[in-house]
Amino acid sequence: YKFLIAYVYSMIKKDINQNDILNSELLNIIDYNYIFDEKPIKRIKTKPTLENSKSRLEALKNKIEAIENCDLKKNASKIVFADGNIQSSIMIIGEGPGQKEDELGKPFVGDAGNLLNKMLKAINIERDKIYITNVVNYRPPNNRKPKPNEINRYAEFLKEHISIIDPKILILMGSTAMEAILGSNKRISKERGIWKEVIIKKKSYKTIVTFHPAYLLRKPDQKKFSWEDLKIIRKEIDQLNIVI
Ligand code: URA
Repeated sequence: YKFLIAYVYSMIKKDINQNDILNSELLNIIDYNYIFDEKPIKRIKTKPTLENSKSRLEALKNKIEAIENCDLKKNASKIVFADGNIQSSIMIIGEGPGQKEDELGKPFVGDAGNLLNKMLKAINIERDKIYITNVVNYRPPNNRKPKPNEINRYAEFLKEHISIIDPKILILMGSTAMEAILGSNKRISKERGIWKEVIIKKKSYKTIVTFHPAYLLRKPDQKKFSWEDLKIIRKEIDQLNIVI
């Protein structure tokens, strides 16, 4: 993998120097849109006003509710949009609502939610102080994993959601959240616990992937890795002087 990255970089250099034709398949690995996009990335963030965020969130929710020909929406009882503090610097992305979430219209209120609350408490974070949403906003039938086309469809809403909340730290829980934001060719066991700069709508977000609490309920032996990630997250919060 490292060799491939080195090769890709050498190809880019070659292109600049010798006008070679780039191997676009290899370049896909590092998402060349970000590299060759001419528009500047906004690195300095001015926090949106509360009123502005509220109305943009309301508009986004309406847009999701207007979605048509969606198997998720057809089978769900209501939308599960988000929960928490819309001005938080920390945003968590899960996969999609389960039965309890579908009943209550709130993300992470079932067993996985209870574990998430405990995980956050372990690093001194009260759940209601941060902001939580999912990739898909309607419960998949029988709690199946959202399909790639559904993930792609809802990823557009999710990216807008992230840009409205504009967090300093973005936490992707599980492979569905990872796929929606980082693409489908990644393995969670390799990506987790490493800070990444991810560009969404021309802004850069400090992002980390970690295991989903529902996965940890199924595989408790993986909790040790999750704990490593949580400590990494806490350290960054302290270094960035984020007040929660
Ligand atoms: N799992 C998720 O990914 N999201 C929820 O809201 C609940 C369980």
